[in-house]
Amino acid sequence: MPRFLSVKPDTRLITLPWSTPLAEWPTDILVALPRGISRHVVRFVKVGREVYAVKEVIEHLARHEFSLLRDLQRLDTPSVEGVGVVVGRVGTDGEALDPVLVTRHLQFSLPYRSLFTRGVRQDTVNRLVDAMVVLLARLHLIGFLWGDVSLSNTLFRRDAGSFAAYLVDAETGELHERLTDGQREHDLQIARTNLFGEFCDLEAGGLLDEALDPQVLVETIESRYRELWGELTEVEEFSDSEMHRIDSRVRRLNALGFDVAELDITTDFAGSTIRIQPKVVDPGHHQRRLLRLTGLDTEENQARRLLNDLDYFRAMTDQQGADESIVAHQWLTERFEPVVGSVPPELRGKREPAEVYHEVLEHRWFLSEQAGRALPLLEAAHRYMQDVLGSLPDEQIALSAMTALGPLANPYDPSQGYDDDDEAAPYDPWEDDEAAADDDDPAAPSGFLDIAALRARAGKG
Ligand SMILES: Nc1ncnc2c1ncn2[C@@H]1O[C@H](COP(=O)(O)OP(=O)(O)O)[C@@H](O)[C@H]1O
Ligand SMILES: [Mg+2]
Repeated sequence: MPRFLSVKPDTRLITLPWSTPLAEWPTDILVALPRGISRHVVRFVKVGREVYAVKEVIEHLARHEFSLLRDLQRLDTPSVEGVGVVVGRVGTDGEALDPVLVTRHLQFSLPYRSLFTRGVRQDTVNRLVDAMVVLLARLHLIGFLWGDVSLSNTLFRRDAGSFAAYLVDAETGELHERLTDGQREHDLQIARTNLFGEFCDLEAGGLLDEALDPQVLVETIESRYRELWGELTEVEEFSDSEMHRIDSRVRRLNALGFDVAELDITTDFAGSTIRIQPKVVDPGHHQRRLLRLTGLDTEENQARRLLNDLDYFRAMTDQQGADESIVAHQWLTERFEPVVGSVPPELRGKREPAEVYHEVLEHRWFLSEQAGRALPLLEAAHRYMQDVLGSLPDEQIALSAMTALGPLANPYDPSQGYDDDDEAAPYDPWEDDEAAADDDDPAAPSGFLDIAALRARAGKG
């Protein structure tokens, strides 16, 4: 009779054919979902509406992996969720069978082979690489030595705008109080070897874009990891009056291409310590999140900036656990609206509210860096209106903001839209009767070099 070791068992799992070797399970209970390369027999089973991954593996490894996955879950690190271990299996012939580790199938997850099979753009590869780097750094931050870092042991997931990597195979892992540099180097060494092999495999199978080189990819992962680790772990102690230094830190992470998913600031008697959680996100993610939380519809970079400020506000008001939408509402009424509302009526035409707020934050950061102390937000807003906004000419700003999106069909009537309409046929001077009729203006720009047209014009003149 098999025994089920679990914290909260799904009793329906008991009905599965445990006395049959996993490789021989009937297909009617299995689900065909993308799966990475594995040493062990791994299957996905459907139980009611749930899908589980089951892996046949020797007992001490099954127990070890199960307990590590529980630890990772507890420490809020992206990994698959351990459900239980089934031990004491006996086959119908009376022979003992290996235990099975059961994990919850990670919904919408994709092994890297499925991602590469679809032919990825360079940009996506960079995001995958960064997601992998973030995962490794997060594991190391909590003291987890992976031991078998590889693409096969990583799952990638797109979910509500996020792009994240999850650990799937913890068999070789070890959890320590904290990792030494030597231990981290060990993981990096394994990562280099495994990833290089995996990228070469993809290349040999014709799956890797020709522009991508396995060696370069591996080096990128390593150098990105080192950059991120430096920014994340550098210890900064500062007093409450120097909180603008958090801002500087977030900027440096952003400049490295990492977004800050969470700001965690702990204050004690000795001072403040800061912990920042990085994350890789999809384009448009911030825009959607800000719209959902505050109703503000902005450009992506503005949204990112405003959300960072919202996270900062959350940390400063000690509301880490509070409901996101409630904090967002407070931020809107206590930070955003007072600043935007302080713009004198005669200056309102110069900048959109979100842009004003963004620029006030910029100005505040600049002034705070200069002064070596954090300036109160409203004081910075006041200085910004005085120093910057007042001297900006209206029209020029409005126009340059719009031309950034492409040439306007009519610069004086933005409602006519932009000139880059793909449907419109390209301009052909030979078909433009009016232009042909009075083209003795030699200064008239033709838009492109047409030798025949120039000859014709020279012949006419
Ligand atoms: N909980 C899960 N959710 C989604 N996929 C999973 C899950 N568990 C395993 N897999 C898939 O099965 C593959 C093999 O699992 P893994 O634990 O790495 O086995 P092995 O120890 O044999 O390497 C993984 O690469 C992954 O694609
Ligand atoms: Mg594996």
